[in-house]
Amino acid sequence: MKTINTIELRPGMVTAGSIKTRKGQEIIPAGTTLTKQLISRIEFYGIGAVSIDETSMLTEEEVQAALQAAMTQKLANTPKTAEQPSVPETPKNEVAYSQQVKRSKSFQEYSLNSTLVTNTLQKQLEGFVNEGKPMDFDELLRVVKSLITPGQTIIQYFDMLHNLRSIDDSVYSHSLNVAMISRILGKWLKWSGDDLDQLVIAGLLHDIGKMKIPPEVLNKEGKLTDEEFEMIRWHPRAGYDLIKDLNIDSRIKKAALQHHERCDGTGYPEKATVASLDEFSMVIAIADVYDAMTAARKYRAPLCPFQVIREFERDGFHKYKTQFLLTFLQRIATTYQNNRVILNDGRAAKIILLNQNALSEPLVQLNDGSCIDLASSPLYIQSIV
Ligand SMILES: [Fe+2]
Repeated sequence: MKTINTIELRPGMVTAGSIKTRKGQEIIPAGTTLTKQLISRIEFYGIGAVSIDETSMLTEEEVQAALQAAMTQKLANTPKTAEQPSVPETPKNEVAYSQQVKRSKSFQEYSLNSTLVTNTLQKQLEGFVNEGKPMDFDELLRVVKSLITPGQTIIQYFDMLHNLRSIDDSVYSHSLNVAMISRILGKWLKWSGDDLDQLVIAGLLHDIGKMKIPPEVLNKEGKLTDEEFEMIRWHPRAGYDLIKDLNIDSRIKKAALQHHERCDGTGYPEKATVASLDEFSMVIAIADVYDAMTAARKYRAPLCPFQVIREFERDGFHKYKTQFLLTFLQRIATTYQNNRVILNDGRAAKIILLNQNALSEPLVQLNDGSCIDLASSPLYIQSIV
């Protein structure tokens, strides 16, 4: 018997015990072979994990065989060109996983609800910036909190955030993501409920200054002129000026001004250092960078969480509040422990031990049982399967 997160359930798995709702009503008896419809039913009732008969699950060898078969078929169906890499790329697996997430009922619900929340946020911010209407922070908090589903795992949540980014890349959806990621980090830091609420508002408002930047500059795809670049770098100050006279927590105002500052003084607009940075600003800075890296860009695919961890490790812990960044990266890495991954040479593996000194380079086990310590190997994790 093995407990499996609902999002990882596959048709063909057999339930090891009776599946019940929170109120104790049985919805699927023990010994049932799961179908897509039954999995949707489990998702519908918000059940986060279920017990599965391990003998009904694919072995590592079977997974490897399936992956190999998929790759062989892909190669057979693709005409060879001079540019084709000799090692098959694996985004196909990631796409398949991403499609599974997108097809799930919980994702569709989240997607719909987050669109509603994003619209509410846009309406309020535009009303405030363009027409001077007061923002209703109670309403904003209420709609954001409606996105938080009890029993949902962080891994499911991050999966949904990543997949949403390819749908909506606006300032408003970015701000909502930053608010939600900041809240998760604030929770990991054991902040109080009131601080978490204020942090959510700080996340929602952190980029409000971008609304003062002409859209043709903000959304420009080509290289920015020096003047346009300066205009973009002005948005923290513009944001602060917009909200500085509001009767709100001062940490929210500071987050708008300081979220691009870095602890070592390399940020902007004031090149402030850690001594003058507010804790909210330092949390928002991490969430902001994380969300930007996991978003798809025209020039690169979204980075998988381990690539993001690697980027943060490369960038240097001195740029961020070390305690906050370590907590954030450790919790994310731990979330994916035991997950299957694809390495950059196309092989499937499983994370079996995290390396505390290099979180992006854990010990992984290949399907033939051999292990690779990524900390002493040029290989790296390319995607989560
Ligand atoms: Fe910003």
